[in-house]
Amino acid sequence: MDSAEKEPATAFGIYVHWPFCLSKCPYCDFNSHVRREPIDEPRFIRAFAAEIAAIATRVPGRTVASVFFGGGTPSLMQPATIAAVIDAIARHWRVAPGAEITLEANPTSVEATRFRGYRSAGVNRVSLGVQALDDRVLAELGRLHTAREALDAVAIARAVFDRYSFDLIYTRPRQTPQEWASELSRALAEAGEHLSLYQLTIEPDTPFAALYAAGKLQLPDEDTARALYDITQEICAAHGLPAYEISNHARPGGESRHNLIYWRAHEYAGIGPGAHGRIETGGERHAIATERGPEAWLKRVETLGHGIVVDELLTREEIADEYLLMGLRLAEGIDFARYAAVSGRPLDPARVAALYEQGLIETTKTGHLRVTLSGFPVLDAVVADLAA
Ligand SMILES: C[S@@+](CC[C@H](N)C(=O)[O-])C[C@H]1O[C@@H](n2cnc3c(N)ncnc32)[C@H](O)[C@@H]1O
Ligand code: SF4
Repeated sequence: MDSAEKEPATAFGIYVHWPFCLSKCPYCDFNSHVRREPIDEPRFIRAFAAEIAAIATRVPGRTVASVFFGGGTPSLMQPATIAAVIDAIARHWRVAPGAEITLEANPTSVEATRFRGYRSAGVNRVSLGVQALDDRVLAELGRLHTAREALDAVAIARAVFDRYSFDLIYTRPRQTPQEWASELSRALAEAGEHLSLYQLTIEPDTPFAALYAAGKLQLPDEDTARALYDITQEICAAHGLPAYEISNHARPGGESRHNLIYWRAHEYAGIGPGAHGRIETGGERHAIATERGPEAWLKRVETLGHGIVVDELLTREEIADEYLLMGLRLAEGIDFARYAAVSGRPLDPARVAALYEQGLIETTKTGHLRVTLSGFPVLDAVVADLAA
């Protein structure tokens, strides 16, 4: 794996959360809700604009490098709503020429009909939740689209946007390395510059967690999971999309600039219900989170001008730990000097030496510290060891 685009000294991005979906997928624990009544989008536009104005007073003068509409299902928003949010952002900050503006979309035919409207609104990249290319599996995942529909949406995305990505979930029940190799190769034939490949995780309090606890959902065993992970790396690298992050693959230059802001521990504002942010004011870094419930968030913004419920000053140690946790997900790794400057002390040489010896970490050509291919499957343990 080689390094992503050259790291800028800092960057500022904006995440906007749309908390609604048409139905709830049984594996998903994101902040997404199903509503029978139509959503009052003009009311949301006013609240998004108010929260953007409130955050802008705390971090004025930034240049916006990226905006990400995530969810939930942002492709249920009207293009005019997206345009209004982008306008509100541009009223408060300078938006860099060529800023990356991504929208997460579910790949149904209804949503794909709105792609041109999103482009006119200013979106220049879409990320589609394809999840699988097998209709039986899609049904099991509770998805509302078929593989054909998903691939048609990918084709429309390719025609409308210069940049697109799609997500697949693997390490699924009964999945064999041979089947996954063939599914992944079919996916790569449709891929542009970027693919997100997530190993299925069983999240607490989801229907999948209940099925799993009852023994009705069996995941591949550890060896099969490892084989699935290894062939994912091999096949993607052979197609020119190596992993630049533990679950994300791109052609060099095709990386998600927005997600790189998170992984490089730069600065971002989170707008909308349940959004998280990390902002720097007066030389200090704050962790911000907003009210999760969509209606409660609206009411809070309408009363207070923002939906913030958590605003914590991070200690040097917490900032350093986050830098490790996020930065070690990246193929480009972390900068020893930045870690030492943030935490006030270098990484423990004895722990670093032990991890080198086990082949779990290495130094890159640019002198960064990164996790090796064999270290990635045990990334959490490596981070815990270095952070301790
Ligand atoms: C928050 S979803 C939003 C995308 C969009 N709503 C959709 O479902 O197409 C982002 C991605 O997270 C991934 N994801 C969600 N829950 C997951 C889980 N339990 N295990 C692995 N991947 C998951 C899916 O690939 C999904 O596309
Ligand atoms: S996976 Fe996507 S569509 Fe399904 S519930 Fe989660 S956010 Fe909604």
